[in-house]
Amino acid sequence: MTTLWLVGIGTGNPDHVTGAAIRALNAADLILIPRKGEARSDLADLRRQILAQVLTAPVQVAEYDVPPRADQDDYLGAVNDWHDAIAQAWSGTIGAHRPDAANVALMVWGDPSLYDSTLRIATRLPGLTVRVIPGITSLQALTAAHAIPLNTLATPVTITTGRQLRDHGWPEGATTVAVMLDKGGAFTAIEPIDTHIWWGAYVGMPEETLLHGPLSDVAGEILATRSRLRAAHGWIMDIYLLRRGDDV
Ligand SMILES: C[S@@+](CC[C@H](N)C(=O)[O-])C[C@H]1O[C@@H](n2cnc3c(N)ncnc32)[C@H](O)[C@@H]1O
Repeated sequence: MTTLWLVGIGTGNPDHVTGAAIRALNAADLILIPRKGEARSDLADLRRQILAQVLTAPVQVAEYDVPPRADQDDYLGAVNDWHDAIAQAWSGTIGAHRPDAANVALMVWGDPSLYDSTLRIATRLPGLTVRVIPGITSLQALTAAHAIPLNTLATPVTITTGRQLRDHGWPEGATTVAVMLDKGGAFTAIEPIDTHIWWGAYVGMPEETLLHGPLSDVAGEILATRSRLRAAHGWIMDIYLLRRGDDV
């Protein structure tokens, strides 16, 4: 029986890697590293760098190419097929390198619970027992970087995607909205009055860039900064918190 350890590694700062993560990685028989292609190769590099820092045991490491996602009209169908293909890539790589492995580890960006499909993909391999080591999420890294609380006193928080915000506007009744996976500027689709934004790109990484203020004052600066950074680095990951009302 193989145990698959999904190890949250935080959002790009090697110091985010917890003691529990370090223990799980060192106890693994095999660690799988995804290769996603040129544009995001630095994330694979970062995983290698983390391993170089934390591995004290002679753990075998195997890289696998993440299969490309088909461009088909049926979005959910395409994602399902893609997840099947990734599960096959995992089992193929385990079979090729350590078919006898008792413990296999995958390093998951941030934490596996937040906008990540690793847990869903793992259910496709029923022979595996899944264990999770929690990691620091990009949302925690954002609120820490700005030194703000996630919620205001006794109010709920909505976590959503750029596409949802763009397509459906401000979630009804929300006070605080955290937005991830935004292809760029979904906040321009909402009414900015009385709204504050705390934005961060590459949060936790050396390139970390933060901006905040009333949305009507800083929206243009965030858009311009985002395009400049994206052009300079060739890729970008950003996240932001929006809050309405006086209690900022
Ligand atoms: C597929 S989700 C993965 C989230 C991850 N599991 C987590 O716990 O944060 C990717 C999104 O997370 C956010 N993100 C991840 N790392 C980030 C970082 N270092 N800086 C800013 N946003 C980040 C961005 O919104 C990005 O589009």
